Amino acid sequence: MRLILLGPPGAGKGTQAIVLSKKYGIPHISTGDILREAVKKDLPLGKKARSFMEKGELVPDEIVTGIIVERLKIDDAKKGFILDGFPRTLKQAQALDEALKKESIYIDLILYFETSPEVAIARLSGRRVCKVCGYNYHIKNIPPKKTGICDQCGGGLFQRPDDKEETVRNRLKVYEDQTKPLVDYYIKEGILRKVSGDLDVKELFHRFFLRYSPKRSWYDSLKKR
Ligand code: AP5
Repeated sequence: MRLILLGPPGAGKGTQAIVLSKKYGIPHISTGDILREAVKKDLPLGKKARSFMEKGELVPDEIVTGIIVERLKIDDAKKGFILDGFPRTLKQAQALDEALKKESIYIDLILYFETSPEVAIARLSGRRVCKVCGYNYHIKNIPPKKTGICDQCGGGLFQRPDDKEETVRNRLKVYEDQTKPLVDYYIKEGILRKVSGDLDVKELFHRFFLRYSPKRSWYDSLKKR
C-alpha cells in the first residue's frame, strides 16, 4: 500500500503513521523527522533547513523533493510506504507524480485529516517529544507514565522549538496558503478520502481499518490508473 497522510500541523499524521506502519509492515517516511535529524546532527542538509524550520516556513521544494525521491529508492519502500508531511506544495506533488511514474508505480490513497485549528493548536502546544528516541506524547491526551520521562526508553521529554505559539500560528497559515490546495489536486485525481483528525488515535485507526483497508470493496472504488 502506498499512502500519503495530508492535513494541518497537529492533525495527528505522525502518530497515526506509526500505528499504520506497524499494522501494514511498511515504512513511515516523514520529511519533518528526516529534516530534524539532519539539524540535530548538524549535517549540510540540516544547515540549509534550520532557519526555515525555526520560523515555521517550508524548506525549499528542490531540497525536500530530492530527499524523498532518494528515500523511495531504498528497498524497504518497494512493498509500500506511508508519506507523512510530503508533499506540501503543488510543485512537490507534481515532482512526486513524475518520480513514481518513471517507476510505473502510483499512490493508492491520500488520507486527509480534517482538523479544526483549535484542536491543532491544543495538540501542538501540549506535544512533548523524547530527546533520545523521538517518541511523541501529549501532556493531556497521551501522557507518559512519569511526567517528563519517555515510557519507551527513559529519555527526557522536550517541547519542539516550532511548537511555540507564534511559530504554530505561522505553520497553520503556511499550511492554509501552500498545502491545503493539494486537497483539490488529489480530489481531481480521485484518490483522496477524508477522515476527522479530531478523533482520538484508536477511533481514527478503527475508521481507517474498517473503511479504508485494501481488502474492502471501498478500495475498488478508487480511480484506477
Ligand atoms: P513536520 O514535522 O512535518 O510538522 P507538521 O506537518 O507541522 O506536523 P506535526 O508533526 O506538527 O503534526 P502531526 O500531524 O504529525 O501531529 P502528531 O501526530 O505529531 O514538519 C516540520 C517542519 O519541517 C515544517 O514546518 C517545515 O519547515 C519542514 N518540512 C517538513 N516537511 C516539509 C516539506 N514537505 N516541504 C517543506 N518543508 C517541510 O500529533 C501532535 C500532538 O497531538 C502530539 O502531542 C500527539 O501525541 C497528539 N495527538 C496525535 N493524534 C492525536 C489524537 N488523535 N487525539 C489526541 N491527541 C493526538
